[in-house]
Amino acid sequence: MTHKYKAHSKKNLRRAALYATAWTGAVAALGFNAHAIKADHAEKCARCMAEDAYFEQQAPVGDRFDLSQVNLSYMTQGFGSPRTNQSVDGNPITIDQVVYSTGVGTHAVSTLMVDLNKTAQSFHAMVGLDDETKGKGKVVFQVWVDGHLRFDSGVMSYGDAAKPVDVNLAGAKSVTFLVNPGTAGIDFDHADWADAYFTLTPNHVGLPQAASVPSAPPRLVIPKPSPLPEIHGAPIVGATPHYPFLFRVPATGMAPLYFHAKGLPAGLKINSSTGIISGSLPHNGRWNVTLIVNGRRGHTTRQLVIVGGKHKLALTPPMGWNSWNVWAGAVDQQKMLASAQAMISSGLAAHGYQYVNIDDTWEGPRTKQGVITTNQKFPNMAQLGRDIHSMGLKFGIYSSPGPTTCAGFPASYRHELQDAQSYAKWGVDYLKYDWCSYQNVAVGTGTEYYALPYWVMRKSLDTVDRDILFSFCQYGMGDVWKWGARAGGNCWRTTGDINDSWGSLIGIINAQAPIGRYNGPGHWNDPDMLVVGDVGWGHPHPSRLTPNEQLTHISMWCMFSAPLLVGCDMTNLSPFTKAILTNDEVLAINQDPLGETARRVVYNPQEQVWVRPLADGSHAVALLNTGFQPMKVMATWKQLGLTGRLKARDLWLHKDVGTHAGAIGYVVPPHGVVLLKLWR
Ligand code: GLA
Repeated sequence: MTHKYKAHSKKNLRRAALYATAWTGAVAALGFNAHAIKADHAEKCARCMAEDAYFEQQAPVGDRFDLSQVNLSYMTQGFGSPRTNQSVDGNPITIDQVVYSTGVGTHAVSTLMVDLNKTAQSFHAMVGLDDETKGKGKVVFQVWVDGHLRFDSGVMSYGDAAKPVDVNLAGAKSVTFLVNPGTAGIDFDHADWADAYFTLTPNHVGLPQAASVPSAPPRLVIPKPSPLPEIHGAPIVGATPHYPFLFRVPATGMAPLYFHAKGLPAGLKINSSTGIISGSLPHNGRWNVTLIVNGRRGHTTRQLVIVGGKHKLALTPPMGWNSWNVWAGAVDQQKMLASAQAMISSGLAAHGYQYVNIDDTWEGPRTKQGVITTNQKFPNMAQLGRDIHSMGLKFGIYSSPGPTTCAGFPASYRHELQDAQSYAKWGVDYLKYDWCSYQNVAVGTGTEYYALPYWVMRKSLDTVDRDILFSFCQYGMGDVWKWGARAGGNCWRTTGDINDSWGSLIGIINAQAPIGRYNGPGHWNDPDMLVVGDVGWGHPHPSRLTPNEQLTHISMWCMFSAPLLVGCDMTNLSPFTKAILTNDEVLAINQDPLGETARRVVYNPQEQVWVRPLADGSHAVALLNTGFQPMKVMATWKQLGLTGRLKARDLWLHKDVGTHAGAIGYVVPPHGVVLLKLWR
């Protein structure tokens, strides 16, 4: 041992600490008894006071049990999988240039609960952001013992020295390790629990064991379907005069239902048994139409505003389904048709869902003339378009401005006009346009760099005689929300791809907070497609979100006025999935014609409160518990910007919950939500 340093310099103390932890790790990894070696070491190194002091304080008095030895499949995280003795990207764990041979690499938002049953007396680790993030990312590490916060790292950035964690676990039943994002999003939040280990209690029986965070029962009531007729969905729709107009009136109630409409513009007619309004608008204008639905148990009416004009699509956020999250490359024409049929038979169309969108992997090679073809999975795209339209539903497709799509299929680069024409021929109503390989051919600087390809396709779509809703997919680059509407977008993805984990969900929710004000009728922030139901990108499995997380997901997408594109297997909807996708009171927030977005008024790692005004003068309020144990979440009128005595309704319980003044608060399950409507 040749290390020598002055005991009291801060830098040397840190070096001593690092050396010692690395040493303890190496000793344990080699299977030696840390105690015996330490005694030997102390004798041989009498002058190394700083190191000895460190050992007195830090070295385990019992056996060491590495965190990486627990079953890490219980760890949930935002992206990727937890890694043993490696960073989340599979590199050696490295914090501020110090390499650790042991530990766990994870990605915020990360949660791991370990049952102790008194097997451990302490926990030690060095924590920090992994150097592989190369300057990006910010994280907060926390250790909770039996529900009490015992360690909080504060926000840690790239280049911050690892922070030592030393937590007393004597008598503890369980410990929970959290990594929260330090800023809005979770991108590059690669977090390391380096050299992380428990010191076991002498004579312990058993070992620390990873466990599932208990999932509270979902906080909702699933009501029986009402036999009374009711009309749902968008209260306002728009279309270009003389272009095909299609709108299926969403209505529920005991069948058969009969549909009528008063005040329809010339050129439109309604089918009385299907409720499908079709034809074309005669000119620019605004029509206040009264929809009437007669059912076995009475009748109902509702206003539908029809707006005629150029670029009047998506006056409320689009609702529908997209193939990617469930089928990815396994999508084919048959599955698309089955999904459209299921949209009707499951009743989702009756609650306002209408788009049926193919994502990537339909594309075939171009003809000699450059016309795009379909591959063998889609033998007849025009027929698929006709089939979908015959049900009163709308048809969506996918491409990229680059030479190839994200999945490597031919895309629209230098064929924009031809592709727009092909889409029109097939009856396409919605185009998702995904940046992907455009990265390799992009030109320009600043906003132009990002906006140009979208503008080119906008111009191409404008030459065909169909309305095609234009959805940008470029993951929020160049602050797309600031220029997306000007570049002709009806919606734009704000973040990277969603997956069915809490980390992904809460990361996306957090990323919406600063950008809500760019939302509005005709142009929407798109936090990505839904991950409730059976999802799995070609390998369907029930969503890994807990039921309460799924309620949070749907509630927040409605609070955000986000496009609601179901991402699951439509032919296999569980009663729970169907219930959370068809709560009309919740969907009405999403489709509110004011098109406002919720503002976040309370925010800390454990709770969030969001509020948005609605067209009828009421407000929607979401109380979120982002912690892992039940908690009362409160907001005052001052925080919410409200005054006076207000009535409240709990939208997932379908229940009026009294009159409130000054503040409102409810106990919210972990990762769950209480969604309220407040009115005078
Ligand atoms: C990107 C998009 C996804 C999906 C795939 C298809 O990852 O963000 O939503 O469209 O491409 O390849």
